[in-house]
Amino acid sequence: MSMATRYIAPWLRSPCCESLTRAPSQCLSPLRHKRATHAAAVAHPPAWRPSSALDEWVQREARPISLRRLTFFGRTLTESRLLDGANYCRLELPTRIAHRLRDIQTLPYVVVANPHLAHVYEQYLSAFERFRRVPEIRTLDDNERYCKILQETLTEHATVIPRLALGVLEVRGLMRPEETDKFMNTMLRSRISRRVIAEQHLALTDTFNSPWHFPHNQPEHDPHIDTVGEIFLKCNAKEIVERCGNTTQELIKAAYGSNVQLPDIRVEGHLDATFPYIQSHLEYIIGELIRNSIQAVIEQRKYDGAKPPPIEVLICETSQHVIIRISDQGGGISNEILPHLWSFSKGPRLQKRQQNLARVPKLLGTLQELKIPGADSKNHDKHDGGSSLSSLTSRPPDLRLGIGLPMSRVYAEYWAGSLEIHSLEGFGVDAFLQISKLGNKDERLTTRASMDA
Ligand code: COI
Repeated sequence: MSMATRYIAPWLRSPCCESLTRAPSQCLSPLRHKRATHAAAVAHPPAWRPSSALDEWVQREARPISLRRLTFFGRTLTESRLLDGANYCRLELPTRIAHRLRDIQTLPYVVVANPHLAHVYEQYLSAFERFRRVPEIRTLDDNERYCKILQETLTEHATVIPRLALGVLEVRGLMRPEETDKFMNTMLRSRISRRVIAEQHLALTDTFNSPWHFPHNQPEHDPHIDTVGEIFLKCNAKEIVERCGNTTQELIKAAYGSNVQLPDIRVEGHLDATFPYIQSHLEYIIGELIRNSIQAVIEQRKYDGAKPPPIEVLICETSQHVIIRISDQGGGISNEILPHLWSFSKGPRLQKRQQNLARVPKLLGTLQELKIPGADSKNHDKHDGGSSLSSLTSRPPDLRLGIGLPMSRVYAEYWAGSLEIHSLEGFGVDAFLQISKLGNKDERLTTRASMDA
């Protein structure tokens, strides 16, 4: 029996769509389906196409990467290495997308028929079809053509995260919150992983093509080399905290008015600690934590007119980790909100997110049309409703999707780190970000929920 016949998605098992958990494409009465009252479920029914190609690709396992492996691979770039890297992407990206397509297919139809989730499904399906058809990359010209496809797809997928965030918000109540969170965690990790793989290959291709690249003269361990593709070998936590702090302060001023009293950001501890990392990932997490802290502090003390207490950042280096503690005196998090802090569908800013819903279609349009800043330098991950440096400069600072904290944890855990929040209700919050500093851990594609299970 082929995989195609063995795997039957729930909605394909029924010849009719009596219930909204069946696919309209299988419905004997599509018109009646069109008239169904559940607008969100039928507005944009996705075109389900049983695909034996998908079945084949789902059989493949993802081949995990680590920062160290990526660094060793990209350090001495030769033509044959670059082409090997291209062929790794060529097989890896459709494999990883296939697994996520299958995940979406196994959700109840009423959930995937949500216009935002359906849109993401269609984008992934079309990327999968495009990627799986790329023939073996044998020459640098083949690689150039392949890079163009990668670049275009990265740009096209810029709105995936806001769409997922809105989609799960709109379908809450149709899925258990734990299932929603597991789904989101898996989708987001996988997306990060694919973008890392694609962006790393684009960056290595740029390096290879750059006039100062002399592969044969370059010693394997040249101490002057500080980046390998997208990996910054000597990320310095203090510098990133200061940079994110400055940018966030500017943005908060823009949102709250230039008279707002901002807390200072004080950094102490192991200020020289460095480690290999992808800077945009760290900027996302630290930017989000600092912004939460500043907002909590100024919102609590808004009417005092006095200088608010500082945000204290402590950097601590151990043999395996760098730990960054960000402490504020913003009043802490109430016990009612605390259990939902990491939830994508029940998060603390739900109300704000609902208010923002009306503005988001415009944002999505803008992102789609936008000549994305950083697009040339391959930093596409910025447009996700979060707070990495350039994302906030390209959208209104108060337009937040409320997924910054769970998203930050996904980023932290992706490279085998962790993010914890300790709240002292009535006083403030300590956020602990732990980074695995040796870069030797494989990317984590499994979700927190499945790790806990
Ligand atoms: C994504 O952004 O979700 C992608 O899959 C991008 C692709 C170029 C790997």
